Amino acid sequence: MADYIYTLETRLSPDQQKAIALVSDAAKAAEMNLYLTGGAIRDIVTGFPIRDLDFAVQGNALKLRKDLEKAGAVIGDADDDTRSLLLTLPGGVRAEIAMARSEIYDKPGKAPQIAPSTIIEDLRRRDFTVNAMALSMNEGSRGLLMDPFNGVADIEAKVIRVLHNYAFLEDPSRMIRATRFATRFHWPLEERTQARYESGKENGYIEHIRNSSIGYEIEQLAYEDDALGVLKAYEKEGWLKVLNPRWSTAKADTAGLGALMKTRQQMNELGYTPEVAPAVLHFLTERLGDKDISDLRRAIPRKDLVEAWKDLDANAHSLAKRLTGKEAATPSRTWQLLSSARPEMILFLAITARQQAVAQKIKNFFTKWRQVKQKLPLPEMTELRITTEIPSYAKISNDVFLLLLDGKLRSRTETLKYLKPLAPPPPPPPPPPPVKRGRAAKAAAIAAAEAAAKPIGKGKGKGKVAEAPAVAVAPVVPDKAKAAAAKPMAPVKTAKPAAAVQPKQAGKVPAKKPAKPVKTKPAKAKKPAAKAKPKPKASKKKK
Ligand code: CTP
Repeated sequence: MADYIYTLETRLSPDQQKAIALVSDAAKAAEMNLYLTGGAIRDIVTGFPIRDLDFAVQGNALKLRKDLEKAGAVIGDADDDTRSLLLTLPGGVRAEIAMARSEIYDKPGKAPQIAPSTIIEDLRRRDFTVNAMALSMNEGSRGLLMDPFNGVADIEAKVIRVLHNYAFLEDPSRMIRATRFATRFHWPLEERTQARYESGKENGYIEHIRNSSIGYEIEQLAYEDDALGVLKAYEKEGWLKVLNPRWSTAKADTAGLGALMKTRQQMNELGYTPEVAPAVLHFLTERLGDKDISDLRRAIPRKDLVEAWKDLDANAHSLAKRLTGKEAATPSRTWQLLSSARPEMILFLAITARQQAVAQKIKNFFTKWRQVKQKLPLPEMTELRITTEIPSYAKISNDVFLLLLDGKLRSRTETLKYLKPLAPPPPPPPPPPPVKRGRAAKAAAIAAAEAAAKPIGKGKGKGKVAEAPAVAVAPVVPDKAKAAAAKPMAPVKTAKPAAAVQPKQAGKVPAKKPAKPVKTKPAKAKKPAAKAKPKPKASKKKK
């Protein structure tokens, strides 16, 4: 049996996982059984992206509202009839929590009679087999899949199948939904479902669609990755005029939609996850009249989506204004401004900006300026102990990045010169080892003393490592070398990168090079001299 909890945990984003934990806590506190249902289960099984989370609780979902709001949820709509909440959970996770209910249709197209029910009865009222599954989120049965209509089998067969013969008659919006899912997944309708669908079309079932369903389906369009593809399919099937009589693909800005999806993809690759639904609605309805647009907005149940759609133009305008003002006078200031702007606003402005300067700044923000980060001298910063371990690291590296952006640090040398005074002091030397007592300790101490007395090189009495280079430079002053050795190592370390990266000091380097201890040790000192003489002769010979 498939381990759905494992799949759930691996397939959900961290924000979606947190959202499930949050809703689980609220349901537990209210002593309600909780199930994940609908599209989320279908998408877990299929491997398609999980776009939103639909929950069913055995109890009144409206009672969870306060707890959820306290935990940061924004309620987009609360429906008293179905006792359900449309909400956005922290991290922008869209969710619906509905009371598990049975639906009895007295008359086709009319609202059904609703009654609280078990989860299994709730699954019976759903549209397609692939959407009529539930996963228990409850202690004791967590991970148990309920699939009374063999939805998993239909997912494997890649077909869309209604639950019963009256499905389209009872809820004509299911015909629009069938078109939407068929377009998205490229799955056909199962044979009998297709026959019922055709019959529903011929017999005008759609005239009985409920207004609430129209609003719901307009909203769902906004979340489609290929919204234009679905819009075209709706037009072909005759559903678009059901959503709005004057809507057609000609009223959409297809180029804008294409650019939106492309830029979104680029932003995703850089780690931004802007919510595109409001902008999708903007471009889908770009050429519709004001009245039609306000009708569409009024119909959409999720009010936070409508507000975001309404605010798009004004927000983009204000960001464009700031980008052409003093606040964005330099690349670093522009960077800071764009870094603090909402990704949705940048995305929308990137596509709609009329001023070349604005478009160019956004382009630089996503491309050229980001590459400047690679100029941070990370190895040298590590040598200077400017690493992520120090609290000021983020600020220092950001400051350097901004100075690089503005061209105020023009070379590595200048960057290091700027960084050196910011290097934290070296760590204190490690404490001496504790004094050991007893025979073993005595033996160890003697061994250590003997080892210290032994010279490392061949020369007698010159046993200290630090003395070797000192001797090479000034052979007569071992005391100086001792003093140098006694000094902390820090100055030596900080000198290294500077010498290595400052090409102007190159002249000084050869003076130090012959001072290398190995080459100037007494025994070897004569040899290079002897070798040095024949060389000029050889070169003369050549001539
Ligand atoms: N549902 C239904 N009939 C409708 C609308 C919704 O049976 N007219 C049920 C289905 O079980 C559906 C669930 O409610 O799966 C959630 O609906 P929705 O979010 O619109 O669709 P999803 O299946 O979740 O698909 P997606 O969000 O991926 O579009």
